Formats: sequence, C-alpha cells, structure tokens
Amino acid sequence: MEPWIKKYSPKTLEEVIGHEKEKEKLKQLVEQPKKPIFLYGGTGNGKTSSVYALANDLGLELVEVNASDTRNASSIQGLLGGAINQGSLFGAGKLILIDEVEGLSGTKDRGGIPAVVKLIEKSKFPVVIIGVDAYDQKLKELKKRSELIHFKQISYEELLPLLKKICVQEKIGADEDALRHIARSSGGDVRAAINDLQVSAYDSIINMDSVAWVGERNVTIKMENALRLVFKTKNPSIALRAYDDVDEDIEKIFLWVEENLPREYTKPVDLAEGFENLSLANVFFGRIRKWQYYRFYVYCYALLSAGIALSKEEKYSSSIDYRPTTRLLRIWMANIKNAKRKGVAQKIAAVTHMSSYRAYHDAVPFIAALSRRENVADCFDFNSEEIRWLKELR
Ligand SMILES: Nc1ncnc2c1ncn2[C@@H]1O[C@H](COP(=O)(O)OP(=O)(O)O)[C@@H](O)[C@H]1O
Ligand SMILES: [Mg+2]
Repeated sequence: MEPWIKKYSPKTLEEVIGHEKEKEKLKQLVEQPKKPIFLYGGTGNGKTSSVYALANDLGLELVEVNASDTRNASSIQGLLGGAINQGSLFGAGKLILIDEVEGLSGTKDRGGIPAVVKLIEKSKFPVVIIGVDAYDQKLKELKKRSELIHFKQISYEELLPLLKKICVQEKIGADEDALRHIARSSGGDVRAAINDLQVSAYDSIINMDSVAWVGERNVTIKMENALRLVFKTKNPSIALRAYDDVDEDIEKIFLWVEENLPREYTKPVDLAEGFENLSLANVFFGRIRKWQYYRFYVYCYALLSAGIALSKEEKYSSSIDYRPTTRLLRIWMANIKNAKRKGVAQKIAAVTHMSSYRAYHDAVPFIAALSRRENVADCFDFNSEEIRWLKELR
C-alpha cells in the first residue's frame, strides 16, 4: 500500500497548500538568486516538498544533501563541492538543497555550519537550506547571511480541503466532523494529518468512531520527547526524570522502548545491554502484577530510564523519529475489524435466535455472501456501514 503522503505529495508549487506569500518569495529568490535561502518552520508543513515541486516547475536539477545523514561539514563539502561549481549534466540549471540543517550542529563539529556557509556562498546555483528553528544559536551565522523564509503553521481551514480532496480521490465517505477532528489534532503538521487519515480510512467510511484515537498525538509527542531524553543522555539524573511528563500506562512505555531501542542503539553490545535492562524491568513489572508490590514501580521506571540510558557506551548522534509501536497499531486495527464483526453478529443473533458465538463464526460469512445478492439490511437492521463491510468481506 502506497503511503498517501507520497501519493499526494505536491508535484507543483501550486499544489502546496498555504504559504501563499512565502511560495512567491521562494520562487522569486530561486529565479534570481542573491544569497542562500534559509527556509524554516515546523515539521510536516511542506518545506522539503515545496523545494522539490519548485525544481520540477522550473526544470531545475535538484542536488540534495540531508545534513542529518552526513553530520559533518567535510562530508557536505565532499558531496556539494563538485555540484556547486560544475554545470549540470544535461545543461539545465541546478537547485542545491541542504535539508535538515540542524543535523549538522552536533558538538563534535563546531566548525560545521560556518564551513557550509562559506562553501555555499561560492555557489553558482541557488541554494536552499531547510531547518526547523531560525533562532537556534548554532544557526546564527547562517541566518545572518541568508534570506529567511518562514513557513508558518498550516491552519486548520487550509488543511481541511486537502483532506476532503484525498477522500474524494480515494472514494472514501467521510463525516465532516471526523475530518475536522483530524485537522485540528494535527497542530499544522500536514504529514501527520494525512497519515492519520490513511489509518482512519481503514473503515471505508470515516466517522467519529474511526478517528477517536487521533487525539492521542499529544501523548505521542510527550513520549517521543521522553525517549529522546533517555536515548540521548548518559546522565542518570536527567534520564530518571524522563517519563515525568508522560501520563501513560507503563505497558505503553515498555512497548515504545522496545520498538525504538534497536533503531537507536545500533551497536550490538549496547543493544544487548539495553534489552537486558528492559527485561529486568519486565521482571519487576511481573511481580507488581502478581503480588501487588507497588514499590517495585520505582525499579521499573529506573530501569526503563537510567538503565536504558546507561546501556550505551557513547551517545549516538543519529536523529531518528521515534515512532509508536506498530504492534499497538496492529492490535487496534484488529480490534476495529473485530468490533464490526461482533456488531454484525449480534444483530444476526438477535433476529435468528442463535448464539452470538455461532453467528460470529458461522453466520457472518453466509450473510455476507447473501448481502451481495439480496437486500439484507432491513431483515437485520444493518446500517449502511455494516452493509458495506459485509459486502466487502471475503
Ligand atoms: N503545505 C502542504 N501542502 C500539501 N501537502 C503537504 C504540505 N505540507 C506537507 N504536505 C504533505 O506532507 C508530506 C511531508 O511534507 P514535507 O514537505 O516533507 O514536510 P517538511 O519538510 O516541512 O517536514 C508531503 O509529502 C505532503 O504529502
Ligand atoms: Mg523536510
């Protein structure tokens, strides 16, 4: 299944929603470059895709380096040095993009940003640098020497029509309220909103029930911050406070750590040590559940925070988006699927006087086959969503 953020990624600058003035300015500065362009703003609001779309509009060859992948100035110099001076392979113009520039500002590489600034000042081609926060001290030099463009938060009014358009193209029915809920919960992150829409669209009709979980984004942000603290520090007292803001069940914390630990700790020794601590935490958790030894929570949290933090020999400088456990998502999807089937089975059971267990296992497939030929809605009092679900059941 193709991710919708890819499928609906804007192909031309015009398709990028919002940022009307800023898009105009970007285009103008790329067409008549004077200084490097520093484009900044919150995640998922269209910075990277705007630059791609613009290159496409203007027929420019896009040369991209992602600073998070390279992390030091000399490798950026290596990657860009040639491109900045030589003409394009096919005679077309070029557009140079340095994305996620914050990835460069690690302490190991103090000279990083100024060196990059020096390099790009010599460029014959327009250069766009993308970052999140223009007021980051480390980016001072860059800010001084470039044209700033700020992509502000996409409003909920701007986002809603895009969600509607996607539903139309995907032939999915959607309640206005449900789409509003997704748009509102996104906090201006278009990428997040489209992802949420795609998961909700599992239901083929999107209503408030299908999007109830979406408001959990806040929880997600808090959890991501907590994990960042734990994974990125070697200081136990910082780590120990990491989960203070997270008001989630400890089970969820386990799942989050389990999911993201192997993505962060890539050295086998660190990973082994990390899982050792995770499993110890689990042992204590088992004892809490079995014997209600609630004071063991202290050990659980200590192992999940300081224990995990100290499992690494040294910090990883990678920048990873920590993600919620996919296991939970799968369980949730299975539950939704089951809930539909259960609801349908109960209605069949009520009319036919069979047990709902038998209806669930034996009658549902039969009624589903029947529903493709006969109108069964009235007999069993199915609503349109249930009918649709039945017809699609194979
Ligand atoms: N303003 C926007 N208009 C249309 N689609 C957008 C917009 N912002 C984000 N998206 C969607 O989200 C995806 C990620 O956006 P991206 O440009 O990578 O965000 P950023 O670089 O600002 O973090 C895009 O592929 C696109 O599908
Ligand atoms: Mg980006």
